[in-house]
Amino acid sequence: MTDVEGAFRAAFQAPPEFIVRAPGRVNLLGEHVDYNDGWVLPAAIDRAAYLAARAAPEPVVSLAAPDLEASAAFRLSELDAEDDPAAGANPRLDAIGRPLARWAWYPAGVAWALRRHGLRVVGLEAALTSTVPRGAGLSSSAAVEVAFAAAWQRLGGWELPPLELARLCQRAENRYVGVASGLMDQFASICGRAGHALLLDCRTLDWQPVPLPAGVSIVVADSGVRREIARSEYNTRRAQCQVALAGLRQAMGNPGLRALRDVSVEDFNRYAPALDPLVARRARHVVEECARTRAAAGLLRAGRVADFGALMNECHASLRDMYEVSCLELDALAEAAQRIEGCFGARLTGAGFGGCTVNLVAAATAEDFRRDLSRAYQEATGRQAAIWVCQAADGAAVLQPGG
Ligand code: GLA
Repeated sequence: MTDVEGAFRAAFQAPPEFIVRAPGRVNLLGEHVDYNDGWVLPAAIDRAAYLAARAAPEPVVSLAAPDLEASAAFRLSELDAEDDPAAGANPRLDAIGRPLARWAWYPAGVAWALRRHGLRVVGLEAALTSTVPRGAGLSSSAAVEVAFAAAWQRLGGWELPPLELARLCQRAENRYVGVASGLMDQFASICGRAGHALLLDCRTLDWQPVPLPAGVSIVVADSGVRREIARSEYNTRRAQCQVALAGLRQAMGNPGLRALRDVSVEDFNRYAPALDPLVARRARHVVEECARTRAAAGLLRAGRVADFGALMNECHASLRDMYEVSCLELDALAEAAQRIEGCFGARLTGAGFGGCTVNLVAAATAEDFRRDLSRAYQEATGRQAAIWVCQAADGAAVLQPGG
């Protein structure tokens, strides 16, 4: 853990009441399907956002973020004026009427979403640190949202079912921060289970933990690449999925078709020629990824790691060729990993356009894998990857200071 307690004491000259840990995640399979009502298979990881906090007497939220060497404060009453903050002209303001720093939009957005849901949100003093690399596709922002939601839940005297809390965090990100995202990241940060992946049906919100077989390690490799276009490309992909859906409704004579997740691979093959070729490629990824993810969960349960890994490799190829959200560096990482002995599967994880790959590796060879992958990546790209073995971790929890 980072010294979030020390950061709190330094900022507020007092001990915190409690500490929240909210993890980042990797996604093993089910990429770019959560916003198509599909199935995802993420795991929370042992990298997390940490929040040390105590209730404040005034309805003001005061924040210290030593990682960013920044502090910020905002008034809870300011938030209620904003109906649809991301869409409106209303600037997000701090406690003295200046523009609120962007990193503080996440807690402000969570407070906004909780209050609009009729929940009690108290003033807060809080220090925030994180070991989730930012913008790397490991859900650093969802971890921050969930940490604050858990803090306000603890202090507010209310308790929501986990999926409802995840949805409110997602709403904060979509409607207050103004970034489109599905539910996967917040779900994983809240519902994570040590040693397990989590299979979520993004329509029904039913989910089950799926044990990770013994002797298998999750290795994350950060390409070091961050691309600004990721956000706009994400929105474009979502729009293309909607266009595909409309086209399939017509071609299949089924106006009630709700989402791409409702299209079987067989039906898709039959009707895809009716779609624009680019849109058809996007939709093919989604339809096949839904089938892959459901099959993969069964394989994992059965301990068939090699077969599971083969589906991860297929997923990477599909993200590269059909969905076109990969990049040279991620391809270099995935392809090098797939050639290394002891690696069952390797693919980009998260939205793409940079960030990380996730690798399933025989635990006994994980150290060799790390060394070989690092060397191969440097040879291919001249870049240095940060590579580490992850543990699948529990979801967000409130801890006692000093614990
Ligand atoms: C981002 C979003 C998620 C999901 C992934 C792609 O991480 O926040 O909701 O859409 O991209 O699978």
